[in-house]
Amino acid sequence: MSKKNSPRTDLVATGRMKSDQPHVVPVPPERASTVLFPTYDQFTAKTRPFFYGRFGTSTHRAFEQAVMALENAEHVLLASSGLAAVNYALLSFALPGTHILVTDSAYDPVRYFCDGYLAKRGVEITYYDPRLGSDVEKLCRENTTAILAESPGSLTFEVQDIPAMAKIARARNIPLLVDNSWGSGLLYRPLELGADVSIIAATKYIAGHADCLIGTIAANDDEIAQKINTSMRLIGNNVSADDVYLAHRGLRTLAARLDVHEANGLKLANWLATRPEVSRVIHPALPSHPDHALWQRDFSGSCGLFGAIFKTEERAKIRAFFDALDHFGMGYSWGGFESLAIPTWPQKHRTAVPWQEAGQAVRFHAGLEDADDLIADLQTAFAAMAKA
Ligand SMILES: Cc1ncc(COP(=O)(O)O)c(C=O)c1O
Repeated sequence: MSKKNSPRTDLVATGRMKSDQPHVVPVPPERASTVLFPTYDQFTAKTRPFFYGRFGTSTHRAFEQAVMALENAEHVLLASSGLAAVNYALLSFALPGTHILVTDSAYDPVRYFCDGYLAKRGVEITYYDPRLGSDVEKLCRENTTAILAESPGSLTFEVQDIPAMAKIARARNIPLLVDNSWGSGLLYRPLELGADVSIIAATKYIAGHADCLIGTIAANDDEIAQKINTSMRLIGNNVSADDVYLAHRGLRTLAARLDVHEANGLKLANWLATRPEVSRVIHPALPSHPDHALWQRDFSGSCGLFGAIFKTEERAKIRAFFDALDHFGMGYSWGGFESLAIPTWPQKHRTAVPWQEAGQAVRFHAGLEDADDLIADLQTAFAAMAKA
């Protein structure tokens, strides 16, 4: 009987080259448009591991294998960004005349796609409270064809009850799609909790070095995977072999990096919670988080991304804080080796549960620097804030 590896071992061991000849360790970036077939029979064969550059090469197949192990999935598809991955999955089920349910805490560009593209093509969209759990059933209609969840949610970090939602979705034959970028497969496995599709912006922790964009779509059901694959092929999705190479290289060290992101994130979050300038820290691994029990039940750890609410919203003070930061960069994305901090405005996006909390929302990403240096940086920034 074959012993199942720990996911940490799989990250290192899967998608590797096997040869009885001397060979290099990583699967090299195999760039291609044309693929040549030496014989007619090979050219016309029904099953070919790859046949045109747009559909990937052995570099892509190796990374897909590794993500299949990470997500415990039968199928993995690669998209040109995390956003493209979510949107390909959505549009595969959202046809004119259908209705989809989208969490109010979705990554805001996903909302722009729903409102600016799908809605214009006759798809009805209902944004739902991420904390609805099985009550999502009350929003399902005869023509509901997909439910999109994201756990924890963007900016506000609500943890969703995926097992409860999956039960409802399964009974009604509605695919449940989950944006799993925060958990990145190692901390969270939505397919094992009953979801049909798990999507990761591999741009974040998997690639891990802020140098490429890529998305992964994992599913177990053949028909669901086929449906999404068909949309992607028809539209002409392509992921460069160089980006796949970088993502696969990042994946090898995902577990080791996440250990540090988690430790630094918790240290920063706990420290921020003691600060008089902060009214609330929003980190699912902190007992103060309203969904902490769900996080404890369904996740095996946390990453470095969390939120905080500053008591003041005074522009001069907020500006002074951000301008004084040195180790924390101000910029979009997260999951790279470096620490980040940005002001956020959840009130601009939420419709199902309007965001009414006073104060400036801030999103932190704890990088791989020494946590004490990061705290010293925050201390300096708070001092600058007090002076402003
Ligand atoms: C939760 C979440 N999903 C998806 C994305 C999109 O990923 P990408 O930047 O690769 O398009 C992001 C990007 O920040 C994100 O935070």
